Amino acid sequence: MNAEQIAMVQDSWAKVTPMGTKATELFYSRLFEQYPEVRELFPDEMENQHKLLFNMINMAVIGLKRLDDIVPGVQKLGKRHVQYGVRDEDYGKVGAALLWTLEQGLGEDWSPELAAAWAECYGLLAATMTAAASEAPA
Ligand code: HEM
Repeated sequence: MNAEQIAMVQDSWAKVTPMGTKATELFYSRLFEQYPEVRELFPDEMENQHKLLFNMINMAVIGLKRLDDIVPGVQKLGKRHVQYGVRDEDYGKVGAALLWTLEQGLGEDWSPELAAAWAECYGLLAATMTAAASEAPA
């Protein structure tokens, strides 16, 4: 990601985070509506999951400028996801639901350039997680 894309992602994320629970609810309802097959991977009670995913994305967005610092944590996260039953092809589903949620949350501030920057950001995380997942277990 270039510096401009990092700035775009960070600025747009700052606009979405005040939506808090609303954004996470939107995200999971979209994910489960579009990809009902992943619902069974998650617990019935979704309260904590809401916070965790957004905290993680938050960390990643803040850490974009010093990716090396967050890579080991993201690799461990990828290995844990194998235990949750997550497969490589599921990452595209979560990515699509995430971008859709951002688009809803940002409204007129959403643009093709911003979509590309977010796709890159999520793609980096997902690639790091799936690469670690294919290695030895944690
Ligand atoms: C960049 C992508 C992702 C990030 C940053 C992320 C982040 C997280 C975090 C922080 C947790 C909390 C537990 C832990 O730290 O181990 C978690 C749990 C989980 N994630 Fe992800 N995740 C991602 C992709 C996915 C995908 C693609 C799926 C599959 C649809 C998925 C399904 C789950 C499930 C099933 C749990 C465990 C829920 C539970 O039992 O409480 N995640 N994720």
